[in-house]
Amino acid sequence: MTTPLRLGIAGLGTVGVGVVRIVEAHRAMLEARIGRPVEIAAVSARTRDRDRGIDISGYAWEDDPVALARRDDVDLFVELMGGADGPAKAATEAALSAGKPVVTANKAMLAIHGQALAELAEANGAALRFEAAVAGGIPCVKALLEGMAGNAVARVMGVMNGTCNYILTRMEAEGLAYAEVFEEARALGYLEADPTLDVGGIDAGHKLAILSAIAFGSRVDFGGVELQGIERISIDDIRRAGDMGYRIKLLGVACATPEGIEQSMRPTLVPAASPLGQLEGATNMVVIEGDAVGQIVLRGAGAGEGPTASAVMGDVCDIARGTVPPPFGQPAAGLASAPRAPAATPCAHYLRMALRDEPGALARVATVLGEAGISIDRMRQYDHPGPEAPVLIVTHPCTPAALAEALRGMAGTGVVAGDPVALQILGD
Ligand code: NDP
Ligand code: HSE
Repeated sequence: MTTPLRLGIAGLGTVGVGVVRIVEAHRAMLEARIGRPVEIAAVSARTRDRDRGIDISGYAWEDDPVALARRDDVDLFVELMGGADGPAKAATEAALSAGKPVVTANKAMLAIHGQALAELAEANGAALRFEAAVAGGIPCVKALLEGMAGNAVARVMGVMNGTCNYILTRMEAEGLAYAEVFEEARALGYLEADPTLDVGGIDAGHKLAILSAIAFGSRVDFGGVELQGIERISIDDIRRAGDMGYRIKLLGVACATPEGIEQSMRPTLVPAASPLGQLEGATNMVVIEGDAVGQIVLRGAGAGEGPTASAVMGDVCDIARGTVPPPFGQPAAGLASAPRAPAATPCAHYLRMALRDEPGALARVATVLGEAGISIDRMRQYDHPGPEAPVLIVTHPCTPAALAEALRGMAGTGVVAGDPVALQILGD
């Protein structure tokens, strides 16, 4: 009789329930694939008697996830509680310290403590896997760690927060205001408990920082991600971007430059006909560019019970088979912090502003742009009932530093009301 692989699952919410369902539904298939049965030995959550739509009566119960991680009958600890610190981190550390492999979907924990946890895993000869932490069901971590191991990666980018893409595409499809769709997303249960994690770009920034560390062989550096959320995007921005052949996406870009690693997560105009531009609803897309393979595009469900549990189980199977690379692709002790390079790659920009409709106002804005070395590509003023004219300017490529200088200059003109909305435009 082959020894079973016994899982301890901490967290029985959306993802945890999905993992239980896969283990129960695919017993024979999993055993055939990994050569031994997979069993659930014990579970933990906050409330024992909550109806979760699954039968957990056959598993041992632990109130304390740390105790679960330490149980003798748990071979592999699955952390699905969430939160950068608290019980998720304590239980993960307990499992790794005991030399037990860990699978987690917790991007917040990895973005902040990924290096320390990888070192702990290495020191104890334990595996640490986190495919589900980035873009849910899309196997992008595995693509970078394994399939693209022979490539120097130049750039990783993508749409990695399904909630934001849902909000932006729904605003466009229905002509709805941001606030209306935000409430709709809340009612559908899409938003994280703290919605700023989603709409502020933080959740997607966590994911980008994790991918970037693997791609560029450096320590995970969430603090180095320049973040801008989608809160200021209006239906007007979406329509005007559409008029020019673009769609607005919360796009993460990480690239290696001679100065260091550039990481940014911000609303970006992408060509409507491009794969990124065609992404609808809560779907995610990850684009990776390697020197040997060229561009890889991975698209799929970035969240939800089945897709996220699918990624968790992929990691469980790898550990059972013994095919496990180091968490970030190379020994953690040898990983160095890469210099942070502020985003400096020139690109065209979209500027929307409310301009006082009076003689010389537009000329003053054009002068400020010219003084910052920015050339105007296209410009349009829209109909308006009041004294302030909605003006849209598309620039030729300029650096973010030049743009920042121009925005500071505009604030001093006395003709621009409030802060203009400034969005980068991704080239074809
Ligand atoms: P849920 O909020 O649905 O579930 C969290 C689970 O953890 C619940 O069962 C909860 O218990 C349990 N829990 C929370 N705190 C404790 C604690 N102190 N002790 C014991 N159990 C605790 O989260 P999700 O399933 O959505 O997410 C789990 C992880 O997966 C997170 O890290 C998340 O970021 C990540 N993830 C989620 C995705 C998704 O689509 N949902 C996609 C990709 C990653 P109880 O049920 O009793 O309240
Ligand atoms: N809040 C995340 C999203 C869940 O919307 O993509 C998946 O990580």
